Amino acid sequence: MPTMRFDIITLLPRLMESPFADSIMKRAIENNHVEIHFYNPRDFATNKYKQVDDYQFGGGAGMVIMCEPLGECIEQLLKQRKYDNVIYMTPDGNRLNQQMINGFSLNKNILIICGHYKGIDQRIRDLYVTNEISIGDYVLSGGELAAAVLCDAVIRLIPGVLNDETSALTDSFQDNLLAPPVYTRPVEYKGLKVPDVLLGGNHAEIEKWRMDQSIERTKLRRPDLLNDG
Ligand code: 6GU
Repeated sequence: MPTMRFDIITLLPRLMESPFADSIMKRAIENNHVEIHFYNPRDFATNKYKQVDDYQFGGGAGMVIMCEPLGECIEQLLKQRKYDNVIYMTPDGNRLNQQMINGFSLNKNILIICGHYKGIDQRIRDLYVTNEISIGDYVLSGGELAAAVLCDAVIRLIPGVLNDETSALTDSFQDNLLAPPVYTRPVEYKGLKVPDVLLGGNHAEIEKWRMDQSIERTKLRRPDLLNDG
């Protein structure tokens, strides 16, 4: 049994294939740490045009994903298993951060709904959604890329997915600090040298340098993180 299962409802499943077809995500699936399944509301559409969207009441540009095919898709899934969270990806949701990702990484089954056009009918949100999430203050053409971002961030935290288990602990954000700079060979590149402290082998000094760099970087680039506690 895999540690986690993601069920993703999308009208555009192909958009989500490549993020899981390579590297760490691919290995996480192959090694049975996670299972990902896609469901298309169009398969639950009942009229002959397989219609899934319609004009919005009250007028205004943009189509809205209809209740019935999406609702039927969700109900079928809810009959089969219990979900820890039903997440709707939407630019008007709560902005995703590492703390939320850490929380989701403790879940077993997560259902994700991807919106498109003007989004989904509000009643689907009222009836089924436990969590509305945005990945930042800009608008994407649909929730798929955002869902892939969320899944990637969660899956890499599943124990055993990363080779060096401690490496997730030293990520940016895990302690509300940005990560320090890193260097590899050569020692000098186009006149720029690796800081001496990293070549000296004094681990206490190296750790202190990294912490100082993290704090300095965070002060400069993301002072908001330092005030967040
Ligand atoms: Cl989750 N969806 C869309 N369509 N746009 C976004 C987003 C989500 N998060 C940021 N922008």
